[in-house]
Amino acid sequence: MKKKLLIIAAISISTLFAAEPVEVDDRFSDSTKCKACHLHIVNEWEHSWHAKSHYENNEYFRATTDYVSKKTRKSLSGVQVQCATCHNPRISVTSTGIEHEIIAVMGLDKDSEVEKALESDVISEGINCVVCHNIGAIYSDKDETVRGINRVEWTKSGVMVGPFDDAMSPYHKVEHREYMDKDPNKLCFVCHANDRSASDFVFVNMEKEYVDGGKLCVDCHMGSKKQGIAATLRIDNKKPKEREVRGHAFPGAHTDTMWEGALDLKVEQKKKEVFISIINSNPHNIPSGFGSREIIAELVFKKSDEVLETKALSLTTYYKDKRGKATIPHLAVSSSDDLSVPANGKRVLKTPVQRGADRVEVTLYYRLVNNEVHSLLDLREPIWSQKFFIASKSISLK
Ligand code: HEC
Ligand code: HEC
Ligand code: HEC
Ligand code: HEC
Ligand code: HEC
Repeated sequence: MKKKLLIIAAISISTLFAAEPVEVDDRFSDSTKCKACHLHIVNEWEHSWHAKSHYENNEYFRATTDYVSKKTRKSLSGVQVQCATCHNPRISVTSTGIEHEIIAVMGLDKDSEVEKALESDVISEGINCVVCHNIGAIYSDKDETVRGINRVEWTKSGVMVGPFDDAMSPYHKVEHREYMDKDPNKLCFVCHANDRSASDFVFVNMEKEYVDGGKLCVDCHMGSKKQGIAATLRIDNKKPKEREVRGHAFPGAHTDTMWEGALDLKVEQKKKEVFISIINSNPHNIPSGFGSREIIAELVFKKSDEVLETKALSLTTYYKDKRGKATIPHLAVSSSDDLSVPANGKRVLKTPVQRGADRVEVTLYYRLVNNEVHSLLDLREPIWSQKFFIASKSISLK
């Protein structure tokens, strides 16, 4: 009985916030349609992780979706629709109910609207041009749990929203919105905030931890504004129009070159202990963005160049399910302490000096997935266990 009530409650909540999908016309549905005039932008975006946000294109995302479906006994397609809220927001079906679960259990969902929506080309590019540039309104006044597709209203297909108020294009209509230039954080927080588990446990909230100090998300993840062009079409006296533009590569935690120097490192000896200060001058915590990310401090104690002892200190978060067992962020009811380095702040680790050592070398690395989640999901691609170099310091010991 209790379970039934819960299901009814869940269905009514999801329909309450169900967004209105707007069909994307074939002429705008994917980035190849923009290449004739925005090739430089398409080329950059293509290599970003926004472009990989789809079940078929990201092993970690796929494994997590499968795992959630298996453990919650919800149909895979039902879970995929739920995740699409932020990962594939142009999907044409925005929620599924108990009827879909019954059809799925009976194996009759192959030709359903839900399957068609999930297999559509419109969502195969993940967070593509017509996600960010077709948002007509952002409902920032909605409850903070309402994210992705349910936090926005789409423009009519073919109306591109952009940062300029004087742009004109022969291919599409153009409109200006303030979250494309003055307040772009609002656009990023549509999805990069309040990520929660099946039990409503919030495992990351970039909007809450963000310290407003003048730097915008786009300043670092799309680069500063530079002189360039928005379109290659010759609209300005037979030349492309010069504009102030940003990049579309969205480099982030998966880009190893972004990590070098991302955090500062200070190593000191105080009596019989080594103090390692990790300093974060960015306006959000690191790691952040998703759960189970990890920072590793590797220590090598030496005596006249001979290695006496090596040691690794880990900054990560572990998650527990309803039964108290180790799990992934999306199935968590609780977590270990947050050890991330706070926004515009620092975290200090200490460890005893190895007896006899005259030198210690400390190297900081970042990993996208900690060992626990890596083995729960049996991830295979090397990127998930790769260590990205951040910084290193070495001091002599007294
Ligand atoms: C994650 C959101 C996001 C995605 C995805 C995205 N854009 Fe943008 N785009 C922006 C933002 C934000 C700006 C405004 C940058 C600024 O000037 O501050 C912008 C600016 C632009 C501009 C104006 C010129 C410039 O570069 O600043 C054009 C044209 C454009 N985007 C086209 C595209 C195309 C084509 C795609 C798909 C290949 C795309 N965008 C994907 C967020 C996005
Ligand atoms: C036939 C050429 C052409 C094609 C194809 C085209 N655009 Fe454009 N687009 C333009 C021109 C021209 C501008 C105006 C540039 C300027 O004023 O500097 C523009 C401007 C934009 C802007 C900025 C609008 C603003 O007000 O800031 C966005 C966003 C945009 N296009 C997105 C897209 C997307 C997404 C696609 C593919 C679905 C696409 N465009 C396809 C020619 C094109
Ligand atoms: C419609 C939802 C949505 C919006 C809006 C959005 N993002 Fe994202 N973003 C995602 C998702 C989902 C991913 C993860 C994709 C993956 O890894 O498969 C992502 C990934 C990223 C990454 C890569 C992080 C990494 O770990 O490498 C960066 C950087 C990023 N987004 C920045 C931005 C910025 C800046 C904005 C605002 C201009 C923005 N995003 C707007 C959903 C969104
Ligand atoms: C001052 C520069 C700066 C600003 C501003 C900034 N970031 Fe970052 N961000 C970084 C750095 C540095 C990293 C870690 C290195 C990397 O991305 O490779 C990072 C990492 C990330 C990641 C990946 C984190 C992880 O561990 O998975 C995401 C997602 C992200 N930022 C989104 C955002 C969003 C959304 C905003 C705006 C609220 C924002 N960033 C503002 C510099 C910045
Ligand atoms: C509230 C919006 C939102 C919802 C709903 C959501 N995600 Fe995400 N997810 C994001 C954003 C934003 C990122 C990028 C963060 C980053 O890279 O640091 C992300 C990143 C991820 C990643 C890490 C990908 C990588 O390449 O490292 C996985 C795995 C993931 N999500 C799984 C899921 C699954 C499975 C669901 C559905 C059960 C889901 N997400 C629902 C917003 C969301």
